[in-house]
Amino acid sequence: MMPTELAARIYRGTISFLEERGYIDHLNKLLVEEYIDDRMTRIDVPSCGLETVDAVHCILDRNRTFAFLEAIEKSVKPGEVVVEAGLGTGILAIMAAALGAEVYGIEINKETLDLAEQLSRVFIKNGLFEQENLSLIKADASIWNPLKQIDLIISENIYAGMFYEMQIPILNHLLPFIRSSSRVIPEGMSSYVILAQAEKPLHKGHGESFSPSQAEGRSYKSRELSEPFLYDNINFNQKNNLNCRIDAAIPIIRSGLINSLIIYSPVKVARDIILKREDMIFMGEDIFIVIDPPLHVEPQSIVRLRMEYKRGNKPEDGSYFLDLQKVI
Ligand SMILES: C[S@@+](CC[C@H](N)C(=O)[O-])C[C@H]1O[C@@H](n2cnc3c(N)ncnc32)[C@H](O)[C@@H]1O
Repeated sequence: MMPTELAARIYRGTISFLEERGYIDHLNKLLVEEYIDDRMTRIDVPSCGLETVDAVHCILDRNRTFAFLEAIEKSVKPGEVVVEAGLGTGILAIMAAALGAEVYGIEINKETLDLAEQLSRVFIKNGLFEQENLSLIKADASIWNPLKQIDLIISENIYAGMFYEMQIPILNHLLPFIRSSSRVIPEGMSSYVILAQAEKPLHKGHGESFSPSQAEGRSYKSRELSEPFLYDNINFNQKNNLNCRIDAAIPIIRSGLINSLIIYSPVKVARDIILKREDMIFMGEDIFIVIDPPLHVEPQSIVRLRMEYKRGNKPEDGSYFLDLQKVI
């Protein structure tokens, strides 16, 4: 789908602002120096959010960004109260403000909030919207209380498998503040697991993850030994449990050594706007979870996968449970 003129204008303006201020060069330099999964392992998302450079990275995920801009443009009406939880650069809140909404942009990372403020000033100066349409607030969206009822929540705190990011605690907190006819962008996401034999970094151990990144020029070769198995389906318009439990018997289709689980999560941004596995280069990129020791399987084998984790946790933290047994 071709972006509308408004979406293209906001996207272009954001990219040139980030280029002029050196954010894109800085990101590109970082991408060759370190891996995103190492960065995600290091940072404490619940208390500090993402690093500013990762909010910039979101914008370069073009399909993602245009899908969200399109969903907002189709949904927001003038005068509606919109909360964006996890503002990042502010591009999505800016779209809602340009459509005449009363927007509250919440961001936990002060440096990122400052960036969003500078970017919004550029658009205000160019006459895209009025300053009073957009309030920028430094707060943790999982505890911040809005003063008004909300018509629309925008929250893109998403990662494959719902690992690392705080989407569920944020929405569980904000959903009681919405009107009955209100809605959430995105609407939901589903998660699939594939049992695979992958070329993987040797230093990673049981339960740890690594993620290929097209943006960082890394992709892991893998042989998929099972079909994708749908294990999770989250509707963001309702409260969700933090615990994710899987107990599944998965048929094997090829012989090999299972040394990884590949997890990926298509995102339903709106009713007719779906981001598939191959559409995403940053948000929702595949993650691999290492199985060590590996498990040898043949076609017609059946493997029982039991897995338990808290959505928002890191795969590599202690509360992770994973068990894989060949039953046939
Ligand atoms: C994946 S980025 C998305 C940014 C932007 N909404 C976009 O779509 O381009 C998520 C942003 O949410 C922020 N964040 C994470 N947890 C948060 C929380 N609990 N409260 C407020 N902001 C949070 C991060 O710092 C990051 O800037």
